[in-house]
Amino acid sequence: MNPVAIITKKRDGRKLSADEIQAFMGGFVRGEVPEYQMSALAMAIFFQGMEADERAALVDVMLKSGATLQWPKNFGTLVDKHSTGGIGDKTSLIIAPLLACCGLKVPMISGRGLGATGGTLDKLESIPGFRTNLSESEIHAVVDKVGCVITGATADLVPADRKLYALRDVSGTVPSIPLICASIMSKKLAENLHALVLDVKWGSGAFMRKQDDAKTLAQAMVDTGARMNVRTTALLTDMNQPHGRMAGNAVEIDESVATLQGNGPADLTEICFALCAELLVSTGVESSSAAAIKRLNHLISSNAAYEKFREMVEAQGGDLDEPRHIAPATEVVAPNAGYVASMNVEQLGMAIIELGGGRKKLGDRLDFSTGLEMLVRLGDRVEKNQPIVRVFAHHAGVATACKMVAEAITISEQPVTPPPLVVERIVPR
Ligand code: URA
Repeated sequence: MNPVAIITKKRDGRKLSADEIQAFMGGFVRGEVPEYQMSALAMAIFFQGMEADERAALVDVMLKSGATLQWPKNFGTLVDKHSTGGIGDKTSLIIAPLLACCGLKVPMISGRGLGATGGTLDKLESIPGFRTNLSESEIHAVVDKVGCVITGATADLVPADRKLYALRDVSGTVPSIPLICASIMSKKLAENLHALVLDVKWGSGAFMRKQDDAKTLAQAMVDTGARMNVRTTALLTDMNQPHGRMAGNAVEIDESVATLQGNGPADLTEICFALCAELLVSTGVESSSAAAIKRLNHLISSNAAYEKFREMVEAQGGDLDEPRHIAPATEVVAPNAGYVASMNVEQLGMAIIELGGGRKKLGDRLDFSTGLEMLVRLGDRVEKNQPIVRVFAHHAGVATACKMVAEAITISEQPVTPPPLVVERIVPR
């Protein structure tokens, strides 16, 4: 195998064979293909894309690069949800316990922040003691006892993705449909699930800026799931404003707890319920979305979902009662009266990184106490000098972050219609 020939073939827009993809990726995982050649191929794929059978070969080789989770016979119905990433996206923290309360088993393997997007593992680590590095036997034990777990990939689970993900993050090759599809689906298929729901986001805070691209990505992923006999559906959702009000780490845990206790923002509850309902219906636990939503409402009002979250946190070593420090707040105000017209959500994510709530480079330690509270949503009427965002920070980055936040939000004189949250449902072709 000549890596240069494979890179130039893709660079020139030609289709790679399954054998070429297998040989190149195998060499990369074994350390025989160096990172600079893998980065070059990732960039060629970014520009040239991949056809369906190339994508399938890439998913297969990544999936087979390591171990997969093995479950005892009759362990139960295994499900998961995965999001393509956004700002203030805390749905995993709410969905996992809700599904576990319905008797489903949820072995949720999550990630850290990527680009400007936040990471579920980082958020959970703001709970004192919470462990995100469980071994395979610990994952089994927690899923068996509690019904859900949220943890990082073990060392031998899809090593190809771990290596490639880190390279993409620093080589400008994250927003590529075939690479995102292979990254997400190889990890999810390694969990050996019965059913999967995907939350595919489009907008200024998502990797897919255009709705059509998000749809193409969603279709590629649900088709991959179906090919591997996993019941898979996707919801196309809006990321032109953060989910809920809070974005950061500890502040997102607080908002998730409030949502599980029935005091969460309506948009966050709506998206969590819509994603859960997909799985409750696809696994036959409920016969319709309406019946699923009724059950989910009851799990919140009875406190069962919150108790399940507590149980999971405890099983993973965390203490929800230990105070989570939140940095002091500074308010950003509206420069003029009008309607909230747009948000550059990626820039809001970059402001959180500026405050130490996300990483500028691999290995950076996070300041969990920083973050944003969005006091307005798209379409809201605001008056001049009305506070629109609270910035939680206690170091020098606060002035820069406040400026970035102020510049990220535009106010227009004309009324603005807010975008729909769930845009479309995608099923296998
Ligand atoms: N989430 C992933 O797991 N992988 C990607 O490539 C993008 C988002």
